[in-house]
Amino acid sequence: MNILGIETSCDETSIAIIRTSNDDIQVLSNVVSSQIKLHARWGGVVPNLAAREHLKNIFPVLNQTLKKSGIQLENIDLISITNGPGLIPALLIGTEVAKTLSLFWNKPLLGIHHIEGHIYANFISNEISVSSKSQIPNPKQISKSKLQNPKIKFPIICLVVSGGHTQLVLMRNHLQYQIIGQTLDDAAGEAFDKVARILGLEYPGGPAISAIAETFEIRNSKFEIHLPRPMLNRNNFDFSFSGLKTAVLYKVKKNEKIAQDKNFIIEMSKEFQQAVIDVLISKTLKAAREYKPKTILLAGGVSANKELRRQLAEKIEKNLPPIRFRAPEFGYSLDNAAMIAAAGYFRWKNMSRLERKKAFLNWKYLQADAELRLKSSD
Ligand code: KG4
Ligand code: ZN
Repeated sequence: MNILGIETSCDETSIAIIRTSNDDIQVLSNVVSSQIKLHARWGGVVPNLAAREHLKNIFPVLNQTLKKSGIQLENIDLISITNGPGLIPALLIGTEVAKTLSLFWNKPLLGIHHIEGHIYANFISNEISVSSKSQIPNPKQISKSKLQNPKIKFPIICLVVSGGHTQLVLMRNHLQYQIIGQTLDDAAGEAFDKVARILGLEYPGGPAISAIAETFEIRNSKFEIHLPRPMLNRNNFDFSFSGLKTAVLYKVKKNEKIAQDKNFIIEMSKEFQQAVIDVLISKTLKAAREYKPKTILLAGGVSANKELRRQLAEKIEKNLPPIRFRAPEFGYSLDNAAMIAAAGYFRWKNMSRLERKKAFLNWKYLQADAELRLKSSD
């Protein structure tokens, strides 16, 4: 089937079309219009500015997506929209556009939890670029060896790390979520953003800190910075990152002059990133030892962090070798609509005939919800 996904929960306007066949998910087009530059001036996302930008961009993005995919409107089988959590002015633009399209095109509409989308980014098989309808390959003709993520086996432990969430989610099957641990305060991405601000780095902080940390060379190290690894020895799967941020702030305030030194900023970035990685990996492995998953997945914007991916893969291979590790393609780590369409596919697949029929009326009932909770399907 062909699924149109829409994502506007934060500062990316994204629309994608995927084509599915027997759980193989091919992205025909995935257009992302980012507002990062606009919000960087304010050090974070300004909800009303985000909504204005979504409104300005959403129809040009829709046009571009349709054109790139080579798919005609009548061949769209389902519309999948992020209806939460997120910034309400931003969510409203996407949901209202999706409802309008559903009504006028007479297409079923499904609301998707943003984190469910991030998790299902791991199920995207690969991306194919097409410029006209005649060039769309039949997914069955694409050899298995080319697929990025062949069968992912359950049970799964998914480490979700984004700007708003840090959770360990146990999935015994598709659409079944048990949150076994989560942050008690800041999310991992939020901590990156806040620490970047303290160090005078640009927004968003994650890419800025990881880029500067990469330039660290041990021979230039002279500050001997040590940060705590919060909650590491607690007997649960919860996280806490706000103390780590405060520890950085304390060290910067203690000597503001030294804190201007480029090498200090590099060393601090490196140590902060490693502290976050150490805690994330330790808790994930601890959860894996207890729940014995077949696969460990990484999801959310922080999954774009190369060091986190590398070290997590290495530790799993060394300590828990039968467990497979998967992370989304870099292009699907950050917010995008292909992942929302992918999650929509698995929801749709799991629905009864009656539920599918009702989905045609969702243009009336679907609500954007800033605090939406991740729910398992029945
Ligand atoms: O998933 P996402 O795009 O949006 C939310 O759902 O929140 O995640 C954005 C977060 C931001 O906090 C950003 O700083 C972080 O992901 N991030 C990174 C990296 N790239 C993005 N954090 C660490 N390292 C990165 N390379
Ligand atoms: Zn996200």
